[in-house]
Amino acid sequence: MKKITIAIDGYSSCGKSTMAKELAHRLGYVYVDTGAMYRSVTLFALREHLFDAEDTLDADRLSALLPQVRIDFRLNPETGHADACLNGENVEQKIRGLEVSSRVSIVAAQPFVREMLVRQQQAMGEGKGIVMDGRDIGTVVLPNASAEVRAERRYKELQAKGQPADYESILKNVQDRDYMDSHREVSPLRQADDAIVLDNSHLTIAQQDAWLMDRVREKLAE
Ligand code: DC
Repeated sequence: MKKITIAIDGYSSCGKSTMAKELAHRLGYVYVDTGAMYRSVTLFALREHLFDAEDTLDADRLSALLPQVRIDFRLNPETGHADACLNGENVEQKIRGLEVSSRVSIVAAQPFVREMLVRQQQAMGEGKGIVMDGRDIGTVVLPNASAEVRAERRYKELQAKGQPADYESILKNVQDRDYMDSHREVSPLRQADDAIVLDNSHLTIAQQDAWLMDRVREKLAE
């Protein structure tokens, strides 16, 4: 059967990991919790005493030490889910504590950290059959539509509206914006161009899972 990569982006604690895990389980796909990777680097930084009393991060030191950080996921037979491991140690519980949670945003804002983790996430995504959740998965890690495809869509849209359209300048604009968006200091959450948005404010978990399975079936049938 055809396999795809599925990106689920959203704010903290909005239910995306519950959804992503359930989906991966149902499809027999691998679930990758990218937040756990930023959390693991934060735990590493804490252990190396890279935060001072005011919680300022010694970014230069972290950058120098980063090659020593190895993050992988290992299946926990008890839960059936993959646990985050930092240099071989299972840190799944430790990275969920307040010590890490209150500092992870500082670490996740470091461009050199994002660069390393995004590279690893892209390698994981190459194999397909992956459900990945985070903030920038659909936009930076595994963007689906190429700049050319998006420029083409925009071009046709403008043409259909009878507005002047020049494909080359639209493409350049799409590429320039992609560059700026992915190279700004902090990589905030933004919606992927081809994202399907679910407002789960008034849905039960079962309802949101059913909604998601319908979207996946549609994609697989394409
Ligand atoms: O999803 P989470 O709460 O475990 O994420 C932990 C932190 O990592 C959160 O501050 C946002 C950040 N993060 C990110 O910047 N990019 C991702 N792809 C995943 C998480």
